[in-house]
Amino acid sequence: MSKKGVEIAPAEGKLGILLVGLGAVSTTFVAGVEAIKRGISKPIGSLTQMGTIRLGKRTDNNVPMIKDFAGLATLDDIVFGAWDIFDENAFDAAMHAGVLEKDLLNQVSEQLASLKPMKAVFDNRYVKRLDGKNVKEGKNKMELAEQLMQDIADFKKDNNCDRLVMVWAASTEIFLETSDIHNSIEALEKAMYDNDENIAPSMIYAYASIKSGVPFANGAPNLTVDIPALTKLAEDEGVPICGKDFKTGQTLMKTILAPGFKSRMLGLDGWYSTNILGNRDGEVLDDPENFKTKENSKLSVLDTILQPKIYPDLYGNYSHVVRINYYPPRGDNKEGWDNIDIFGWLGYKMQIKVDFLCRDSILAAPLVLDLALFMDLAKRAGMSGIQEWLSFYFKAPQTAPELYPEHDIFIQLKKLKNTLRYLKGEDLITHLGIEYYDED
Ligand SMILES: NC(=O)c1ccc[n+]([C@@H]2O[C@H](COP(=O)([O-])OP(=O)(O)OC[C@H]3O[C@@H](n4cnc5c(N)ncnc54)[C@H](O)[C@@H]3O)[C@@H](O)[C@H]2O)c1
Repeated sequence: MSKKGVEIAPAEGKLGILLVGLGAVSTTFVAGVEAIKRGISKPIGSLTQMGTIRLGKRTDNNVPMIKDFAGLATLDDIVFGAWDIFDENAFDAAMHAGVLEKDLLNQVSEQLASLKPMKAVFDNRYVKRLDGKNVKEGKNKMELAEQLMQDIADFKKDNNCDRLVMVWAASTEIFLETSDIHNSIEALEKAMYDNDENIAPSMIYAYASIKSGVPFANGAPNLTVDIPALTKLAEDEGVPICGKDFKTGQTLMKTILAPGFKSRMLGLDGWYSTNILGNRDGEVLDDPENFKTKENSKLSVLDTILQPKIYPDLYGNYSHVVRINYYPPRGDNKEGWDNIDIFGWLGYKMQIKVDFLCRDSILAAPLVLDLALFMDLAKRAGMSGIQEWLSFYFKAPQTAPELYPEHDIFIQLKKLKNTLRYLKGEDLITHLGIEYYDED
């Protein structure tokens, strides 16, 4: 293949990352980037910062860093903005979240303290356990969207940004299903003027982002941008979108282990997953309506990896249970416990127990960075609408309506890297490798 690739505008100037929600994930992300910029820490867990990509044959020994190969924005060019319903700055919010040590936060306190959240679009009917005062007022949901668009334009100007991306890292909203008003942009806009209850705050942010030409990534399981009206709007406006729900802790483990069982044709009787966590996210998810959104996202992964219809003898009848329990003493340090009942040769039963003492926001922060940088790349490369190649980062990846999502993390990574090779006009890697054994 000739090295043609796609025309990609260079990452010149400042990239503004607009965070919806300045809680545990966002503050851990911002503090982390600032610490890394100062050489205090390394960007562990970030594919864009630490990952490499093989080009050509194994014998070519050509393995550049992804960030150099793809021409990503650098950490020094990033500026942060945020909205939250609480008006505390990022330093106070980080102290409150209790994820990072005080000592580390003190070293980047100036940068964190200067990040003050803009007034949020919020309605406590969608996040039952929270209420804050740093909230916008408007006659209807369209007026609120217009206020957000003004925030976006002001932020870009005030911070001298060349480009922006928006990431939803705010609380999980109650479970909503696609309804008629979500099906076309005309219906959605009318419903925004009518203050229709099927429009959650996250949809108002997503609408404002797309209308402003700003890529939007959804880190929570809310419906948000996964509705026909907004996916079409994103295509029409030339804006990349992706979601839903950062793939961290337990689901990360699930999508690492399940493809392994399936590749060895080991059967599954059941997978019982329970979590204890005590951060604000855990508190929000303690409400059944908010938990339902998360549960749906967490349950979806096994079926698409294991394909019970294709493998009824192995996966036709397994039980999959997911629980989250709010347990304050643990804070952000979640414990995800899995009991997996598998069976092997002649149906003999075995058990696997996984006890993952993880740190939720430590796992999520690098994903925010990668998504922001890759979404910026997508925009510069002229890509629009759903970015399925970023499924790697999500529990419930958004796809075209006729497709089922790919959950196998190894396929997701291959897809991501092949997309980068495609964009840059490099040969795709199929792992066939037969050419190494050709005699002539
Ligand atoms: N940490 C992880 O591993 C992980 C993984 C997957 C998804 N998530 C999701 O990421 C989101 C953030 O997680 P977190 O641990 O930082 O939660 P958090 O509760 O610490 O922070 C969320 C913040 O969002 C704010 N908020 C709520 N509604 C808002 C709105 N409409 N506009 C602006 N701000 C709003 C809250 O005030 C809070 O400060 C949650 O939805 C969570 O489910 C987290």
